[in-house]
Amino acid sequence: MPGRSLRDYPIAAPANSVHWIGRIVAHWKGKLPFPRRVSSGEVKGLPTEDGTSPPVRPVGSAPTAHDALDPSFGTPVHLASPGAEEPAHTFRPRRLPPPNGERWLGSPHRVRIAGCGKYLPERVLTNHDLATIVDTTDEWIRARTGIRERRIASTEETTASLSISAARGALATAGLTPEDLDLIIVCTFTGDYGGMPNVASVVQHALGANRAGALDINAACSGFVYGLGVAHGLVASGLHRTILLIGAETLSRYLDWHDRTTCVLFGDGAGAVIITSEATGTPGDRPQSGGLLSLVLGADGAGANALLVPAGGTRLPPSHETIDARQHFIKMDGKDVYRFAVSTVPDACAEAIAMAGLTVDDIDLFVLHQANVRIIRAVIEALGGSWERAFINADRYGNTSAASVPIALCEAVEMGRLKPGDRVLVAGFGGGLTWGAAVIEWSPFSAVTDPV
Ligand code: ACO
Repeated sequence: MPGRSLRDYPIAAPANSVHWIGRIVAHWKGKLPFPRRVSSGEVKGLPTEDGTSPPVRPVGSAPTAHDALDPSFGTPVHLASPGAEEPAHTFRPRRLPPPNGERWLGSPHRVRIAGCGKYLPERVLTNHDLATIVDTTDEWIRARTGIRERRIASTEETTASLSISAARGALATAGLTPEDLDLIIVCTFTGDYGGMPNVASVVQHALGANRAGALDINAACSGFVYGLGVAHGLVASGLHRTILLIGAETLSRYLDWHDRTTCVLFGDGAGAVIITSEATGTPGDRPQSGGLLSLVLGADGAGANALLVPAGGTRLPPSHETIDARQHFIKMDGKDVYRFAVSTVPDACAEAIAMAGLTVDDIDLFVLHQANVRIIRAVIEALGGSWERAFINADRYGNTSAASVPIALCEAVEMGRLKPGDRVLVAGFGGGLTWGAAVIEWSPFSAVTDPV
């Protein structure tokens, strides 16, 4: 049975600041070789743990299999060895509590979610359809993940176009126009372009949001929870009044449709919320109605290999070799990700609930990242929460990464499962590895309308 707590996993990989301070001291004591200078014709890795030379390959040379699997290029990060009982990488313990022992979101500006919208592509791909593409069955997929079908973007659709449709729905429910927006944030790792422009700029132009800045956030499947924190902070501080926060992914373009271990899990979609403020109250007051009551963010880059797109960035730029090796698609060690999720997310959720001054019984709805119904069930069981309060749409949409939480929030409002005053726990987890959890007190706004 997978471990429930981070304490079940010993710390092995010294990928932290103490480790690096130790290495620097060791270097000055002459125990480690000085990291060697690398000519402009080489690609350099970090020094390895035992002081041996890091992998170095000439620019333009063909990447090796090692390159594909080890994005940190020489740092002590390993995939689980086949058949290994224990995970080959370990997860670090929770961060230390804040120094003052208390951390809550006091602000003179009452921050609230003022609207939401969602967009799912029309094309439905069922498990039975998938069984005609790869060696899989509806029974296997449903038993392991709870997914029955997912949506797939048309060839004309992109992450920006999905975002724009969701954004129009969110603006309509908030009764706002694009000119009201100070900032547009798009949480995604499947942008329209190879690096720039960002998706938010495309959305800004299409909406005619002439006053708004544009920012993309990439924290993979945790992206929307990270975005909530950024948006809340900017609004709570008074720097911005109204922010459009979108989670959107076109994962179908990043899937290897020959790889049954990944292509059955993911789908495309977008969800959006409007985060805005009412300038009332005094500094230090808790928000009286609506808004973020707590936020927990975490990361463990030592587990990066468990879930990644190996090529296409600066480390492995696109080449004939990377394309032939299918390295531009999502690669995942499913068992490692599963263990990470069920060991890390319950702690993050418990911390977020406690930080909000609540108990698990005070949570009206659990809106967890819809990666896999088994993971959601394990997290809620570990928290001691009620399964009836879990919101599930993974069966219909699969894992839509950063889009999954805002799509689920929006659908919960449409179905009458999320009402003003309700406390909803949201949580995301995924590539990085990253995770995040937050408690939101839901604010009143009008019924969700269809996106334009
Ligand atoms: N259809 C049929 N058989 C399959 C399929 C498939 N689609 N995929 C794998 N198998 C086979 C494997 O080859 C293996 O066969 P073998 O025993 O002959 O080698 C067998 O099924 C078992 O495979 P496992 O990988 O051990 O299956 P597991 O029980 O671990 O379930 C799963 C796989 C569903 C991926 C699980 O590990 C999981 O849920 N992991 C978390 C994944 C996740 O949530 N990722 C995303 C989170 S982050 C983000 O959202 C980006």
